[in-house]
Amino acid sequence: MKIAVFASGTGTTLQALMDNQVRYDYQISLVVVNRVCQARDRAEDTGISTLLSKDWMQIDQVLAEHQIQMIVLAGFLAIIPQWFCEKWDNKIINIHPALLPKYGGKGFYGEHVHEAVVAAKEEFSGITIHYVNECYDSGAIIFQAKVALEEGETADSLAAKIHKLEYQHYPEVIEELIKK
Ligand code: GAR
Repeated sequence: MKIAVFASGTGTTLQALMDNQVRYDYQISLVVVNRVCQARDRAEDTGISTLLSKDWMQIDQVLAEHQIQMIVLAGFLAIIPQWFCEKWDNKIINIHPALLPKYGGKGFYGEHVHEAVVAAKEEFSGITIHYVNECYDSGAIIFQAKVALEEGETADSLAAKIHKLEYQHYPEVIEELIKK
C-alpha cells in the first residue's frame, strides 16, 4: 500500500511513521508539505519524494503519478477543499491530539490543544484518528486512546504523553485500515 503523508510542521509524527514503515507493511512514497518545514527535511533525509504545494490540482496529479492509495495527515495545518475530500472519500485520515469532539476545530492544533485541556482541568485527554472531510476535525472517528492528566500536569508534559500515544498507535491504525 503506497501512502502519502501531508505535514506542515516539525514532522515528529512523520518520523514515527517513516521509522515504522517496514514493521507495519506500508510504504510512504510521497510527503506533501504546504510550507518550508522540518517535516520536508526529514522526508528528504530519508530519501522520500516531497512536494511543496498549495495547489490542490497539482497535488492530486502528483498523487496519481506516485500511485498513492491513501493519504495520512500528520500535523498538516490546512483545510482540504471539498472536491478533493470527495474524490478521496474514506482514504484520508488525520490524527488529532485530543479526544474529539472536544478540543477540535479551527485554532485547536498542537500545543494550543494541550494548553486548553490543562486550563480546563480535564481528567483525561488522548488522541483521535479520524477520516477527513472539508471541515476541521469532524470526520468519522476510527480510533481513540486515552491518557489521564496528573497533579501538576503542564501543556508540555501532556504533549509528551500524547506524542507517545500518537507514535505508537498511528502506524497500527494505518495497518489495520490497509488490511480492510
Ligand atoms: C501532532 O501532535 C498532531 O496530532 C497535531 O500536530 C502535531 C504535529 O506534530 N495535529 C493537530 O493538532 C491537527 N489538528 P509534528 O509536526 O511534530 O508531527
